[in-house]
Amino acid sequence: MRPVIIAATRPNFVKVAPLLHEFSARDQPAYLVHTGQHYDAAMSDRFFADLDIREPDANLGIGSGTHAEQTAGVMVAFERWAEANSPDAVIVVGDVNSTAACAMVAAKVGIPVAHLEAGLRSFDRTMPEEVNRVIVDCLSTWHLTPSADADVNLLAEGVDPSRIHLVGNIMVDSLLKNLDRARALDIAPAGEFGLVTLHRPALVDDPIRLAAMLAALRELSADLPLVFPVHPRTRERVAALGVDLGNIELRPPVGYLESICLQAAARLVLTDSGGLQEESTVLGTPCLTLRENTERPVTVTQGTNRLVGLDPHHVLAVARATLERREEPRRPPLWDGKTSARVLDVLSRGIPTVSWIPPYLDSTDVDLAGRRAS
Ligand code: UD1
Repeated sequence: MRPVIIAATRPNFVKVAPLLHEFSARDQPAYLVHTGQHYDAAMSDRFFADLDIREPDANLGIGSGTHAEQTAGVMVAFERWAEANSPDAVIVVGDVNSTAACAMVAAKVGIPVAHLEAGLRSFDRTMPEEVNRVIVDCLSTWHLTPSADADVNLLAEGVDPSRIHLVGNIMVDSLLKNLDRARALDIAPAGEFGLVTLHRPALVDDPIRLAAMLAALRELSADLPLVFPVHPRTRERVAALGVDLGNIELRPPVGYLESICLQAAARLVLTDSGGLQEESTVLGTPCLTLRENTERPVTVTQGTNRLVGLDPHHVLAVARATLERREEPRRPPLWDGKTSARVLDVLSRGIPTVSWIPPYLDSTDVDLAGRRAS
C-alpha cells in the first residue's frame, strides 16, 4: 500500500513528521503532498527543517483565501494529483481546511481516508475547525484517535467501533524526539516570563475583544514579562490597534524548536492554540486557554490546561492565581512518543470490515446492506 500524507499548516507539519519517519524506518513507501495553505518561510520551510521533513512530492501552492476559495482550491488541485498518482489511501491530520478538502476529494474518487486526530469535538460549529472535523470524520475509514474522549464522541455519532483506533497523540512523538535540541536553544528571556500565542478568528478578528485582551495582558506583563510570537493573521490586527503593549515583547513567528524551547522555559502559557494546550501539558507548564471551549478536554482533566474563556478580567485573575502554583508534567494514556508506530500497525492490517447496519434498513424491500432485495 502506498498512501499519501497531506501536510498544509504549521500544526500539520508537527503531526506528519513522525509518520514520515516511521514509514522510512519500515522501508514502506508514502507520498507527501503539501497543499501550500501555509507558505511563508517562517510558517512552513522552517518547520520542514526543524522537524527533518523531506521535500514533498508535490506542493499544490494554494495559499490564503476565504474558506471556500482555500477549500475549493485544494480540492481541484488535489483531485488532479490523486488521479495522476493513484494513492492507495489518503492520510489527513488535524482539522484545517486542507484536511477537509483532501478527505472530500478522496471519498468521492473512492480512496479510503485515514484521519489522524479523529473524534475531537468542541461542539462549537462557529469554529471553522469544528466543521472540518465533522466532515472528515463522516468520510473516514480509519479514525485514529488521540484520547478516549474522542472515541466516545465518534461512538455517539454512530461510527462503527471497528473503525476507531486509540493510537495516542502524535504531537508527543515530535515533542519527545526534539525536546533536548529545543531546550539547548538560547532564545528564552532570562528570568521568569509568560508565553502568549493568539490566532483564532473568534479573538483576533474582533478588534474590541482583542484590544481588551491585550490590555489585560499588558497589566499581567507588569508582574510577568510576556513573549508573544505573532501569527501573520494577528500581526496587522495588533498593529492596527496601536495600543501600548507594556512589557509584552512581540516576536516574529517562531519555528518548532523555538516554540518548544519557549514553552518548556515559560512560567505560564496563554494561548488559543490546540497544539500548545497539549505540548504544555507534557512539559508541565501551566496553560491558560483563552477560548470558551476546547476540543482537547483531556488537557484540562489530565493535564496542566485551564479553560479560562475570553473575559479579560477573569483571564488576569486566573493568571495571577496560577503564578502561585507549580505543575508537574502529565502524560495522558498513550501520549508516549509511540503513536506513529501504532498508526502504521493499524494501517498495515488493511481496510476494516464494517459490521454495523442501520436498523431502519431492516425492511422487506432492501437487504441489510441497503441493496434492493432480489
Ligand atoms: C489555520 C487553520 C487553524 C490552525 C492554524 C495554525 C483553518 C480553517 N485554520 O489558521 O485551524 O490552527 O492554521 O496556524 O484551516 N498567512 C501568512 N503566511 C502564511 C500563512 C498564512 O501570511 O504562510 C496569513 C494570511 O494573511 C492568511 C492568514 O494568515 O490570510 C490566515 O491563514 P489561514 O491558513 O487561512 O488560517 P490560519 O489562521 O493560519
